Amino acid sequence: MQIIDGKATAAAIKAEIAAKVASRVAQGHRAPHLAAILVGHDGGSETYVANKIKACADCGFKSSLIRLESTKETPLDLAVLMAEIDRLNKDPEVDGFIVQLPLPHHIDEQAVIEAIDPSKDVDGFHPVNVGRQSTGLPCFHSATPAGIVELLRRHNIETAGKNVVIVGRSNIVGKPLAAMLLQKGPQGDATVTVCHSATPNLASVTRRADILVAAIGRPGFITADMVADGAIVVDVGTTRVPDSSRKSGFRLSGDVDYENVAPKCSAITPVPGGVGPMTIVSLMLNTLQAAEARD
Ligand code: GUN
Repeated sequence: MQIIDGKATAAAIKAEIAAKVASRVAQGHRAPHLAAILVGHDGGSETYVANKIKACADCGFKSSLIRLESTKETPLDLAVLMAEIDRLNKDPEVDGFIVQLPLPHHIDEQAVIEAIDPSKDVDGFHPVNVGRQSTGLPCFHSATPAGIVELLRRHNIETAGKNVVIVGRSNIVGKPLAAMLLQKGPQGDATVTVCHSATPNLASVTRRADILVAAIGRPGFITADMVADGAIVVDVGTTRVPDSSRKSGFRLSGDVDYENVAPKCSAITPVPGGVGPMTIVSLMLNTLQAAEARD
């Protein structure tokens, strides 16, 4: 059984990006610039954004963090967020930006995503990028699915002709990953099944998977009886579960019952250190692509 080391793969890709950036800067170009808007103080979002800012430094990018406050007493005015997005859309010094999700419940996330200029939407969430992705046109690919595809590619895991079963139909993982793996050509050509909460007899479907992707956000949901011997398992879950033995008071738990599933697999991604670092690296690759498109 192979443990697929996303952390090491991401570190190698970041070194490749840093070398490209150094060469761009030596040729007189600006360093790529990623901006992030963070609303409120959700613990998970704080960590993710801090990791993105750190990855920018590792890659030689410039980064900006824009914090907007929102509390129960003083909820964020949507107009303030939209004005910030408009400013970033127009700023020629910013190559790409993200609005960290989730947003407070009173804010319409889709309206926010649609306000972002698609040419700066390095998350690949805008319907223009989603549509281009599903038709196989050049675009910003959604970061987590792109990270998974790259992780498989760098570990010589073929997708052509394989049965891929994705559990979870979210707009940021399940649906775009299905679209990528369906495409004709390298890293595609898979037979893809997407399962969700209304799928009957889920285990009978997941057991048919050569490659099983768990992206539901329910710790330990995929148990050993749901996995075929020799399957490749990709765990996208990163739920914080209370753990009093940790200084932080929590640990990250994947969607897979790792202890019992791993011995059955030919390869598996751990949590943490599997898909997570690859997601951030994909965002860096999109930002580099955005900067190159602006040359
Ligand atoms: N929240 C969880 N994942 C993501 C992501 O990839 N991008 C943004 N903007 N928010 C997220």
